[in-house]
Amino acid sequence: MPARLEIDGGVPLRGSVRVSAAKNAALPALAATLLTADRVQLANVPDLDDVRTMVRLIERLGATVQREGGTVSAQVARVTNNVAPYELVSTMRASVLVLGPLVARHGTARVALPGGCAIGVRPIDQHLKGLARLGAEIAMEDGYVVARASRLKGARIATDLVTVTGTENLMMAAALAEGTTVIENAAREPEIVDLADLLATMGARVHGAGTTRLTIEGVSELGGAVHRIIPDRIEAGTLIVAGAITGGDVTVTDLVPDHLSAVLAKLDECGVALAVSADSVRVWGPERPRAANVTTSPYPGFPTDMQAQLMTLLGLADGQSRVTETIFENRFMHVAELARMGASIETDGAIAMIRGVSRYQGAPVMASDLRASAALVLAALAARGRTTVSRVYHLDRGYERLETKLHALGAHIERRR
Ligand code: EPU
Repeated sequence: MPARLEIDGGVPLRGSVRVSAAKNAALPALAATLLTADRVQLANVPDLDDVRTMVRLIERLGATVQREGGTVSAQVARVTNNVAPYELVSTMRASVLVLGPLVARHGTARVALPGGCAIGVRPIDQHLKGLARLGAEIAMEDGYVVARASRLKGARIATDLVTVTGTENLMMAAALAEGTTVIENAAREPEIVDLADLLATMGARVHGAGTTRLTIEGVSELGGAVHRIIPDRIEAGTLIVAGAITGGDVTVTDLVPDHLSAVLAKLDECGVALAVSADSVRVWGPERPRAANVTTSPYPGFPTDMQAQLMTLLGLADGQSRVTETIFENRFMHVAELARMGASIETDGAIAMIRGVSRYQGAPVMASDLRASAALVLAALAARGRTTVSRVYHLDRGYERLETKLHALGAHIERRR
C-alpha cells in the first residue's frame, strides 16, 4: 500500500524550521551538467524523488554522479546516449530540461514528448520554437521530439508566453551556440537567476537574468563549477502558511525573503503577523485570517505553486475570497478534497470563490499533485480530528522530509505504509 500521512490537527505549531534547497533550481542545474565535460559540484541539493529521477536521467545520458549528503557531483565526460525515455519523462515533465543541453553539446536529442498532467495540458511548443530559431531541426517521431543541429546559432527569440523551463532550456542551449541570443519575454523566477549564476560560473556569458530580456553570448566550451542551490521559496511559503493556519509561532529560516515578496504581502493582507529578517521569517497565526483576493502570475507575481496553500488558509478566513489561477487550466484539484474537510469553495473556470468556514474537520483525503498535497496537509494541521492524506508520493516529489519538519514543530503527524 502506498504511504499515507496521518495527522491529528488543531495543534499550534511552535519553533524554528529550516528551508531546504529549491527543487525547481536543482533540476535545471543537474541538466546543465550535460553542457560540459568537466565536473560540476552542486551543493545544497534537496533529497527528493524528482531530484533522484533527474540524476537517473543524466546518468543514462553519460553522467557519473556522486552524492554525499547535500552535495552532488556530476561529470559528463562524454554524452553516451541522447534519449530521454518516455518512462522518465512521463514521471517527471522537467526531464524535458535535458533537450537544450543535449542538442547544444551533442548535436542530437530524442526526448519523449511529455503528455498532459494533472494540472494542465502543458505543451512544450515554446521550447521547440525557440530551439528551431537557434537553428535546430525539430521532428516528431513515435512520440519523441527529435532535435538536431551541428552547431546552434544565436538568434533573437520572443516567446509567446512566459515559460520557466522553456526559458531555462533556451538559455542552456544558447550558452553553447555560435553568436549572441536574445530571449525576449523571458521568465524572471529566482530559479532562472540561479541557473544563470551556475552557467556564468561554468564560463557562459549570460546577462539580464531576472529581467524579461536575457542576452547570452555563446561560447564554444563550458567548464566545471562549484555552485550552491538557492532555498526553496515554495517550501518556505508552505511552512509559513503552516505557522499561520495553526495559529502558531514559527520561525522559518534559511530562506530569501525577497523571493517571497508577493506571498508575504498577501499573507500580511490576510492579517498574518510576520517579522522578516535577512534570511528568516517569523510568523504568528492570527485568531482568524482575513479574506483576500489573489491572482496567480509569473514571478514576481503570486506563484501558482502557492495557490493551493493560500486557498487553504483563505478557506478559514472571515469573509469571502476569490482566487484566480492564470497559469494552469486545471489547478483546483484540491478544492473537492478541501470540501470533504468542510471548506466552502465554488469554482467557475479559472476562478474559485471561497466562503470562509470557522473550522475544517479531519477526513480521509487524496493528494492529486505536489502542491495540492501540501494544501491538504495544511488543512489537516488546522482541522479538528484526524485526517489521512493518501498518495503522499506526490508530496515526496518536491518536499524534503516535510512530516519530520512539521513533527519537530509539534504537529501530530505520522507516515504509515
Ligand atoms: N506553456 C505553453 N507552451 C510551452 C511552455 C509552457 O503553452 O512551450 C504554458 C503552460 O502550459 C502553462 C504556462 O505556459 O500554462 C506556464 O508554464 P511554464 O512553462 O512556466 O511551467 P513549467 O516550466 O513547466 C515550472 C515549474 C512548475 C511551476 C511553473 C510555473 C519547474 C521544474 N517546474 O513549470 O512547478 O508551477 O513553472 O511557475 O520549474 C511544481 O513545482 O509543483 C511545479 C509544477
